[in-house]
Amino acid sequence: MAESSWSFAGTEPAPLLGSLRIPGDKSVSHRAVMLGSIAQGTTEIHGFLPAADTLATLRIFEQLGVNVVRGETDQLLVQGVGLHGLKPPTGPLDCGNAGTAMRLLAGLLAGQSFDTSLVGDESLSVRPMQRIIDPLTRMGARIESESGLAPLHIVGGRVLSGIDIQPEQASAQVKSAILLAGLYASEPTTVRELRPTRDYTERMLLRMGCDVRIESDLIVLQPPQQLAAQVWDVPADFSSAAFWLVAASLIPGSDLVLQSVGISERRAGLLRVLRLMGADIEVLNTRDQGLDVVADLRVRAVKLHGIEVPIDCVPDMIDEFPILFVAAACASGVTTIRGAAELRHKESDRLQVMADALSAMGVKVQTTNDGARIEGGLSLHAAAIASHGDHRIAMSLAMLNWARALPGTVLNVENVGTSYPEFAEQLLQRQAPLQISRA
Ligand code: S3P
Repeated sequence: MAESSWSFAGTEPAPLLGSLRIPGDKSVSHRAVMLGSIAQGTTEIHGFLPAADTLATLRIFEQLGVNVVRGETDQLLVQGVGLHGLKPPTGPLDCGNAGTAMRLLAGLLAGQSFDTSLVGDESLSVRPMQRIIDPLTRMGARIESESGLAPLHIVGGRVLSGIDIQPEQASAQVKSAILLAGLYASEPTTVRELRPTRDYTERMLLRMGCDVRIESDLIVLQPPQQLAAQVWDVPADFSSAAFWLVAASLIPGSDLVLQSVGISERRAGLLRVLRLMGADIEVLNTRDQGLDVVADLRVRAVKLHGIEVPIDCVPDMIDEFPILFVAAACASGVTTIRGAAELRHKESDRLQVMADALSAMGVKVQTTNDGARIEGGLSLHAAAIASHGDHRIAMSLAMLNWARALPGTVLNVENVGTSYPEFAEQLLQRQAPLQISRA
């Protein structure tokens, strides 16, 4: 496939001022479509993220017979067909680059009366699926795959039973796959987490009238008769806001407000970590939006210093490590990360890819199996760096080039559209000296 890239001119950045609207949360957008599809009645979604990953989920439910009406500006109406109303699709269901879509759908589809096949792009096809195949198989599902990788063929008409399980990974995707299969099981399902992970699935099910007991790392779900459709207000995605939190911390003179960002405890671990590094981030206008606590985040430029990242923060900031590497590279002193082996199984091996990228730019980075040691504050030089088709690597390297006035290039950036299609446009609106080469 031909590649798109971003080249930076290397001029000093202007301060980031004013306010910025960040697109909707990816995790919530996926789940709002999935749960809305199997609800009774019409679900209204406001602030849906219209990115490649979430649009893949939307298309899949259309293939499963769900009618979705797209309104203006990120509004969707999902006409739920009920727990047992999905229809057999005529072909494979394409999850594209979206791990969340594939893993959650595997759980949901394991309980249907018909067969389905889930396929994904090159990156998704090498990400581990055994972690969901094993627990779902224990529940009675039949999922055929070669070496625990996509494509997954899910055999329908199976009788599922509830389980009591502690997944081997602290993973919201694994937990959610099990809970979604649990909707179709004949007994309750209990998930005990190694460490609490993002909890949207269980909290959304609770709001839909499902009997779910949630006790930080323990979730017990009783199979429901039906799920009631809701109105979901999707918060701005903390993971997308994270790029700006770091850029505004680094670009001298910045004072930027990011509006209505979801800051629930299980989602916003980077806030805690950046503050430990000395970041000046004020949480303003905090309000409970029903599903999530949202706030306006005011961030001002400041000098950051390295820290040891608290291990209990890791699951709460699992998608934010690429941009944390950037913050660490620009901070004075050493930052150490431990307990983050899961980063090796994301859209790329994020520990290795970020370590290689920063090393090529003059940062001293050593990796371990489950972490890294980053020596910050050294002088950086520009380079042409591959982002390995990983959206969060591409956006993190863009922020580093921009904030540090480096005339560098970020290669193969096309997958940024999987989570943040407006990213480059928003950079240009802020006078980033960016040239886009489209494939
Ligand atoms: C997600 C959970 C996380 C995260 C992913 C979205 C979700 O994965 O990395 O981007 O929506 O449940 P794991 O829970 O598997 O770490």
